[in-house]
Amino acid sequence: MRIAKFAILFLLLNISFAKDIINNSFITEYEYGAMLYENPRGIGCNKCHDRGDKSVVIAKYKDKKNETKTLKAPPINKVSYEKFVDVLTTKRGSSNIMPSYFLTDDEIKSIYFYIKNLKK
Ligand code: HEC
Repeated sequence: MRIAKFAILFLLLNISFAKDIINNSFITEYEYGAMLYENPRGIGCNKCHDRGDKSVVIAKYKDKKNETKTLKAPPINKVSYEKFVDVLTTKRGSSNIMPSYFLTDDEIKSIYFYIKNLKK
């Protein structure tokens, strides 16, 4: 009887350890978001937005009147989730610089999570 109790306890312990191991082997939402941010099936967000916390100059060019123009990507870590989703799900016209993406709701959520929690 005693041995059986120990055996059960041992089994239960093992199960909870196994669960820990499985949980730890999954990548976190932060890591998943980071991965998508740099490789969102298309040009990486980081290529234009860098770390997303400041305005980034993408290019400087001269227009027809020979005036220097700067093309900038805005900071993206302060926008609301609604806006974030909107920008990433709206089909963008050719006049826009930012490309269109085909990300799922969960992928957008993870990128947003990453941008919001970016480690310094
Ligand atoms: C080729 C450069 C480029 C890439 C790549 C890019 N963006 Fe942008 N993004 C821009 C520019 C430029 C704007 C300003 C609006 C516009 O012209 O489309 C912008 C606007 C935004 C905005 C709206 C910010 C605001 O305050 O209005 C969000 C959010 C955003 N980008 C997120 C992303 C995410 C997330 C990715 C990756 C999945 C990404 N962008 C990839 C250039 C880029």
